[in-house]
Amino acid sequence: MTEQLRAIGLRKTFTLHNQGGLELPVLDGVDLAVAAGECVVLNGPSGVGKSTMLRALYGNYLVQGGHILVRHQDEVVDMANAPPRLVLDVRRRTIGFVSQFLRVIPRVSTLDLVTEPLRRLMLHPDRTTALLCGPEPMLRFGAEALIAKGLAARDIRVSLERNMECGIALCGHCQLGPLLICRDGPVVGYDVAGPLLRAKEL
Ligand code: FES
Repeated sequence: MTEQLRAIGLRKTFTLHNQGGLELPVLDGVDLAVAAGECVVLNGPSGVGKSTMLRALYGNYLVQGGHILVRHQDEVVDMANAPPRLVLDVRRRTIGFVSQFLRVIPRVSTLDLVTEPLRRLMLHPDRTTALLCGPEPMLRFGAEALIAKGLAARDIRVSLERNMECGIALCGHCQLGPLLICRDGPVVGYDVAGPLLRAKEL
């Protein structure tokens, strides 16, 4: 396998026991291949099975057919059939998951939900560069979680394009301290952006 992730012929059916055992075949022979470094969007109308697919890939949903092959360390793991300990190890080292639900786990804050996969990451600080995007508080807490794991602030790049409007250094909307994000580049090292983001939130 050359990809980082390959799903083959995934099948997942839900049974609605409160509706006379009605069967909903949500995934029916779905294939997916994702290369290392590739950014992929699952796009489609509500209810077509995007979340089910993601949960299946993470091993939260047991599929009734197919394979989910993940390149993990030096081996390829089939998440559809892997023993629980191996699934946990894949989650600890290879796959992260952030739910769209703000409180996916009762009494666990959104902040903890987002930063927890970072805290569990096993990374080599001298061989790692992180790229973070999202709302500024999340950038900050995500970066602080990575710094606590030994990553240098300069090796954490944050994407700050959210406040851009004109995009040609005229409106001033994107100003962050001495930076004009549209002019100076939307991706900034956290060694520069961190103090500015902290000041902005005061
Ligand atoms: S987006 Fe207008 S100045 Fe940067």
